Amino acid sequence: MTDPHRDRPLRVALLGHGAIGSVLAERLTAGAVEGAELVAVITRSGGRGGATAAGVPVVGLDTGIAAADVVVECASVAAARELGPAVIAAGRTLLLASIGALNEPDAARRLTTGPGRLLLTTGAIGGLDVLTAHRQAGGLRDVAITSTKRATSLLQPWMDPAQRDALATAAAPVVAFEGTAADVIDLFPRSANVAVAVGLAVGDPGAVTVRMVADPDATRTTHRISAVSDAGRFHCTVENDPNPDNPASSALVPYAMLAALASLARPSGRFA
Ligand SMILES: NC(=O)c1ccc[n+]([C@@H]2O[C@H](COP(=O)([O-])OP(=O)(O)OC[C@H]3O[C@@H](n4cnc5c(N)ncnc54)[C@H](O)[C@@H]3O)[C@@H](O)[C@H]2O)c1
Repeated sequence: MTDPHRDRPLRVALLGHGAIGSVLAERLTAGAVEGAELVAVITRSGGRGGATAAGVPVVGLDTGIAAADVVVECASVAAARELGPAVIAAGRTLLLASIGALNEPDAARRLTTGPGRLLLTTGAIGGLDVLTAHRQAGGLRDVAITSTKRATSLLQPWMDPAQRDALATAAAPVVAFEGTAADVIDLFPRSANVAVAVGLAVGDPGAVTVRMVADPDATRTTHRISAVSDAGRFHCTVENDPNPDNPASSALVPYAMLAALASLARPSGRFA
């Protein structure tokens, strides 16, 4: 099958214009991805019209979907669950940052049944391809991810004042969560997309041990991922600078999404 955009640029719409979306908009407008063109930014109030500072139309969901070949979600887990299925139902490609959306069965079904296709960004981490290979090899076990970030990035509305205080004033690293990738996303929706990504790579979020650590001295967000299979052992550590506009988000994420768009725009001879 050839892509419908092969004789023209890949038309991209952003769903979300925050820390990740702003970098995407700026880089796409600057021509950072050859063969891709930013045609719209979808916001909650986009139906009222307007444009970004760079002149990109700000639109509502339906107009954005109609204008685009690919919608890039960089909004939230809730937005991905609520709005993503319309992108898929319209036959468009949806590139998802909020991978945790797939942890809810009904949303997962609606996001993966087509006719559009769902692509997942590697986002803040790496090694998902190697984990997938280990899964194919068989005997996968001891899959774990430990995410360490500054305490303020892990504070959640559901925490009681004592929990919030304990995290915010800790003098040493504190384990804020220990459980599985299936359980963590609704508790830490902005920080656990990577855990669900590991869960999807190994085929079972419930089999992934997740630790969320608040470190008062953390200047970067660190993800340590490990696994064992019949083909060997896997260890991967990434140390991400925070996004200057949102310290809870890693600076790397928009660049992972740009890499995915580059692969879509010029699919030949790239890592998949
Ligand atoms: N996969 C990964 O590694 C990874 C890493 C970081 C963040 N994320 C995901 O990306 C999301 C965005 O991250 P960010 O740092 O840019 O967050 P952000 O809060 O800086 O920006 C989110 C933007 O989306 C907009 N938005 C939210 N709901 C919307 C809706 N229903 N319709 C239209 N716009 C909506 C907000 O107004 C905001 O402008 C996070 O919530 C998280 O789920 C994934």
